[in-house]
Amino acid sequence: MLLNILKYPDPFLKTKAAEVAGIDEVKALIPDMIETMYHARGIGLAATQVGIDKRIAVLDVPDENDERKERGKNLIVLINPRILHAEGSIVYEEGCLSIPGITADVQRYAALRVSSLDRDGKTVEFDAQGLFAIAIQHEIDHLDGVLFIDRLSRLKREMIKRKIRKALEAEERAL
Ligand code: NI
Repeated sequence: MLLNILKYPDPFLKTKAAEVAGIDEVKALIPDMIETMYHARGIGLAATQVGIDKRIAVLDVPDENDERKERGKNLIVLINPRILHAEGSIVYEEGCLSIPGITADVQRYAALRVSSLDRDGKTVEFDAQGLFAIAIQHEIDHLDGVLFIDRLSRLKREMIKRKIRKALEAEERAL
């Protein structure tokens, strides 16, 4: 089932999501999140973006030189993800399904060690680099109620907010 993706400035996007206590309570939700991510042509989606107060994210980040971007190849489900170790620095022009039409350079850690539960509730630990590491940090931010525009300088953020506000006002006047 397709879920509705909340758009900025929906206040729910500021929710700090709750830890998942038991895997059974979220099992049914995961296929819907995956379907919604693919339908929106995203490479990551956090539960807070679909109005659910749980620490779950789905990601399918294409390999850097993969032109075919085969869907499902790198699909991963993260439940209660935690960054154990982070190092380096990388800047990437990020976008977000909750802030359509806006991109901006964001600085993140370049490499991570991550601990998480998988979709069967098993603890997994893995390393992430490059775009995969960026996407994990972007999704964990969502689970903490933080958007990529919150990571920009105040000046840049205000510019973007003004642009979004204008677009929303124009939409309200549209016929
Ligand atoms: Ni996002």
